[in-house]
Amino acid sequence: MPNVEKGIGMMWGSAQRFAKSGGFVGNLGLGGMRLSIEGRPDADRAKATINAALDAGLTLVDTADAYHAGAQDRGHNETLIGDVLAARGDADRVLVATKGGKVRPGDGRWLIDGRPDHLKSAARESARRLRCESIGLYQLHAPDPGVPFAESIGALKDMVDDGLIERAGISNVSVAEIGVAHGILGPLLVSVQNEFSPTAVDGFGTFKKSQQLGLMFMAWRPFGDQQKIASTDNPFVEMARKYGVSLHRLILAWELSLGVGMVPIPGATRTETIRDSAAALNLELDSLDAERLANYALFGDTALDENLRKDEVNA
Ligand SMILES: NC(=O)c1ccc[n+]([C@@H]2O[C@H](COP(=O)([O-])OP(=O)(O)OC[C@H]3O[C@@H](n4cnc5c(N)ncnc54)[C@H](OP(=O)(O)O)[C@@H]3O)[C@@H](O)[C@H]2O)c1
Repeated sequence: MPNVEKGIGMMWGSAQRFAKSGGFVGNLGLGGMRLSIEGRPDADRAKATINAALDAGLTLVDTADAYHAGAQDRGHNETLIGDVLAARGDADRVLVATKGGKVRPGDGRWLIDGRPDHLKSAARESARRLRCESIGLYQLHAPDPGVPFAESIGALKDMVDDGLIERAGISNVSVAEIGVAHGILGPLLVSVQNEFSPTAVDGFGTFKKSQQLGLMFMAWRPFGDQQKIASTDNPFVEMARKYGVSLHRLILAWELSLGVGMVPIPGATRTETIRDSAAALNLELDSLDAERLANYALFGDTALDENLRKDEVNA
C-alpha cells in the first residue's frame, strides 16, 4: 500500500483534509478524463481502473462535468465515479474533485462558460451525478475571458455559503489569478490545478505560489509529451533505468520530490498503469538525482528539444 501521507507538512495537511470526514487526500490522484472522452474504454474497464486506483490507496479522483464525448452524455465521468463509489460503499474515504465552466457541444470542441448562473446549475447537476448533497471540492475549470474572473469566483463563494460545495479550487490560472481568487475566497480556496510535467514546466511559478498559500497544486497531464521524453537520451530515461522502474513512475516520483503541495493527477485507462503510477508514492529519489532532474526540466528544458534536433541532424 503506498505511503499516501508522504511529505506533508503541518500547514499543508489542513488543505488536504476533507472538511466532513476528516479523511486524507494524499499526494497523488487519479485523473478521470480519459475514461470518458473520445477513445474511452468500455464501462467495465473504466470502472476496473477506478477501483484499482482506490484499492491501491489513492483517495483523490479528479473529474469534470465536461469529461464526456457526445452531446448527450454530459457528466459521463462523474456518473461513472458516482457508480463506483456507491458500489464500494467507501465514498467517505475519497475526495472527488470535480470542475465546472467548460462545455462540450459534442463535436470535439471545449468551450468555456464561467457565468455564475451556469456554474451554479452545473454544480447542482454534478452533485446529483456524484450522489452527494455537497461536493467535496469544486473547481472552476478555466477563467472565462467573457466573464470578469471575480464574478466566476464569487459564484464559488456563493456555492460554499449555500452548502452546495464544501471547498473551492481553480484551474488553468496565472499567479495573479491565484492571488485574486485567494483574496475573495480566503481559506475556502484549497487547490490550484494547472498543467505541469517535465515537458511543460511553465506552471512551476503557480506551484510555488500555491505552496506559499498552503494550497494543493494538482498537476494535470503530469507525464507531458510522453513520446518526446521516451524517445531521447535524457536524465529521466537514465534514472528510470537506474531505479529499475517505469519512466512514468520515475516522472511522478520526481514531481513529488518538488515539495509539499505537489499532487500529480495521472490519467489511466488500465488497471496496470494506475497501479504502476500509484507505486510512485513509495519511490524515494536520492536528493542529488532529484536535483539533477529538476535542473534539467526547469532550467535546461530546451535540452529535450536539442536532443530531438540532434536526432534529426543525425537521421
Ligand atoms: N484542468 C484541466 O484543464 C485539465 C486538462 C487536461 C487534463 N486534466 C486532468 O489531468 C488528468 C491527467 O491528464 P491526461 O490523462 O491527459 O495525461 P497523463 O496523465 O499525462 O497521461 C495519461 C496517459 O498515460 C498513460 N499512463 C499513465 N500511467 C502510466 C504508467 N504508469 N505506465 C505507462 N503508461 C501510463 C495512460 O495509459 P493507459 O491509457 O494505457 O492507462 C494514459 O493514456 C486528466 O485525466 C484530467 O483529470 C485536467
